Amino acid sequence: MNLQHISWTTDGRLRYLDQTHLPQQELYREADTVDAVIEAVQALRVRGAPLIGIAAAMGLTGAAARLAEEELTRDWLRRAVDRLAATRPTAVNLSWAMARMREACDRALREGGGKEQLVSGLRAEAQRIWDEDAAMCRAIGEAGLPLIEERATVMTHCNAGALATGGIGTALAPVYVAHESNRQVAVISTETRPLRQGARLTAWELTRAGVPVTSIVDGAAAAVMAQGRVNLVITGADRIAANGDVANKIGTYGLAVLAWAHGIPFYVAAPYSTFDLSTATGSGIPIEQRGLEEIDTARGASALNPAFDVTPSQYVTALITDRGVIEPPYTETVPRIIRGERITGD
Ligand code: MRU
Repeated sequence: MNLQHISWTTDGRLRYLDQTHLPQQELYREADTVDAVIEAVQALRVRGAPLIGIAAAMGLTGAAARLAEEELTRDWLRRAVDRLAATRPTAVNLSWAMARMREACDRALREGGGKEQLVSGLRAEAQRIWDEDAAMCRAIGEAGLPLIEERATVMTHCNAGALATGGIGTALAPVYVAHESNRQVAVISTETRPLRQGARLTAWELTRAGVPVTSIVDGAAAAVMAQGRVNLVITGADRIAANGDVANKIGTYGLAVLAWAHGIPFYVAAPYSTFDLSTATGSGIPIEQRGLEEIDTARGASALNPAFDVTPSQYVTALITDRGVIEPPYTETVPRIIRGERITGD
């Protein structure tokens, strides 16, 4: 796919593709302080649940590398990790990646050895988080491949593709694997209001990869389904509760209900790092509320801007994960499979 949307600079800082400028411009930026990484994540320059975890881990490493030895204390590291973890509350991958970085810090501090060793421990852990995500995306693609028949049209929402991960994406991974296997597959991408990740980002990366993609406005989803143009829906997730309830980009819940009403299978694709077994149901998932300047309305009118919604698991046909396809009853299958047991019926 050859997408350089995140990378290390030669001196170990985070370099990223600023997704707010896509598709018009491919603008790359560098972030070498914790504040700069937080700004990039909050402004959605870097976005998508797995990618923000990876970018925060790399950004933390670069920010640590820049400090003088005496400034790089346990307190500085703890505070930096906590601030980064709190930047976007819904995507559990971010706090999961930061918990790993906190452990890597503790490990390096226990071993002693000074700044150089500490920074190299952080860098190794950040790179592992990235590499593991890339492998999980590939495994999701392979697990989801049998669900994509020849000439299938997949509807997706927001962007859960390569731009949102360290690999080939989550929702788009089965599409890319099908395309690589010379299966004819096409995508309908919902626009995704208010920030248009579907129209700007999903359409951009699929076009670049040679996968046919058709953009629709969010309000067209029902009519397009009713016309029989959609074989299956696949979305990503920011957090999946122990009972299979799914938090994802605002509008996902509506699409799931529409798919159910039209008898279209609705799948959610995510790596194990998106599952939060400590949250029993979707009602326990924190929902990020974003600034009202993102909503275009009349002066004097009020607005609401929840960035995510929760799809009750009853609308989810199956979960496509790096550990295989998880089917209902989710209260049994999700905890068992995500803890590492084998899939039912094996
Ligand atoms: O606000 P965003 O653009 O970060 O939201 C992204 C999504 O909702 C994705 O579907 C989700 O993070 C999964 S990305 C593999």
